Amino acid sequence: MSVKIALLGFGTVASGVPFLLKENHEKITQAAQDEIEIAKVLVRDDAEKEKLQAAGHNYNFVTNVDEIIEDKDIAIVVELMGRIEPAKTFITRALEAGKHVVSANKDLLAVHGSELLEIAQKHKVALYYEAAVAGGIPILRTLVNSLASDKVTKVLGVVNGTSNFMMTKMVEEGWTYEDALAEAQRLGYAESDPTNDVEGIDAAYKMVILSQFAFGMNIQFDQVGHKGISQITPQDVSVAQSLGYVIKLVGSIVETESGIAAEVTPTFLPKQHPLAGVNDVMNAVYVESIGIGESMYYGPGAGQKPTATSVVADLVRIVRRLKEGTIGKAFNEYSRPLKLAKPEDVKNNYYFSIKAPDATGQILRLSEIFNAEGASFKQILQEDSDGQFASVVIITHQVNQTQFKNLVEKLDSEANFELLNTFKVLGE
Ligand code: HSE
Repeated sequence: MSVKIALLGFGTVASGVPFLLKENHEKITQAAQDEIEIAKVLVRDDAEKEKLQAAGHNYNFVTNVDEIIEDKDIAIVVELMGRIEPAKTFITRALEAGKHVVSANKDLLAVHGSELLEIAQKHKVALYYEAAVAGGIPILRTLVNSLASDKVTKVLGVVNGTSNFMMTKMVEEGWTYEDALAEAQRLGYAESDPTNDVEGIDAAYKMVILSQFAFGMNIQFDQVGHKGISQITPQDVSVAQSLGYVIKLVGSIVETESGIAAEVTPTFLPKQHPLAGVNDVMNAVYVESIGIGESMYYGPGAGQKPTATSVVADLVRIVRRLKEGTIGKAFNEYSRPLKLAKPEDVKNNYYFSIKAPDATGQILRLSEIFNAEGASFKQILQEDSDGQFASVVIITHQVNQTQFKNLVEKLDSEANFELLNTFKVLGE
């Protein structure tokens, strides 16, 4: 006897699943305590089926999902189609038909995860999705299992490979945003519409899921602020470098006295911070907790074999649970009511890049504005630009979100100053 599974979609990641099942057969079978057999594969249409068959793929390809949903022999459905629909409908139908589901679909799980998990619970089936966050890094299971004894206080993540590749080019080689994007597209990292990757949306989906696992709180996607990398200029990058920082797109979740706060934003990381060395398409999740202290989980966030490794780990776990009769337990059992932090409790250092007239009294006026808001300067840098305007860069000591918002409003309303950019700065 073997456990029969069906794959929904046979793209890059899905084709890594049979690779692992074959190449690591002995270990997988020992861990799962059963054979795992790919019984059916759903593809879009006959043309795709013929193309795959011509390429030597010898599976039972079907083009109608009913052939999988109605097949009583199939125990587990692996959804690797991506996007919301039809994946959501197919997963819902599979769960309702009593099938266990493995998915790598972060967009879907971040937005409709609660609904799908409820359906899974109602039907006493498993819905696992290790691959949805940072593909090849086993971060969700690590939070569930290894950190079960620990209390997480902060999570920082470089969890979008495309934007990290671009930032690496911008930081290490001084490329512009546009050149970095063109190269990411040429190499196939960024899609023709790169919005989700470069605007922090993909990373924000991952923060939603990480909030549930690290903090037990079900934050909604629109409660995670996101700002992307498209506004970062070579000047921001070089100023950051001269002040001892590296800019990266960083997702953060912190727990304050009043609750949690999550956002994705370009962040100045001190060069010695572990995340500052995470380059190219690599991902990392950095965790602060009361037990371990600091830990970081590093690896590939996408790609065929890394992502398939997480998918197959979920499969192994489900098959083993089926054997042991413990199936139906939620992937993540940590759950607390959502409490969002008050803006006054969320504190960060900030970078302000300001264009000011090259005249006397400008720094004094800036000091007045920052003083009035109770924000003190940690670092300040002024450079003449063209004799008419000067570029002023200020890094503040910690200010809370309300102070930060007020500072931005005040600077925007001052006719003399043009606020070019603001970024978060990691530090005390
Ligand atoms: N588009 C994502 C990235 C990959 O660039 O990291 C999967 O989430």
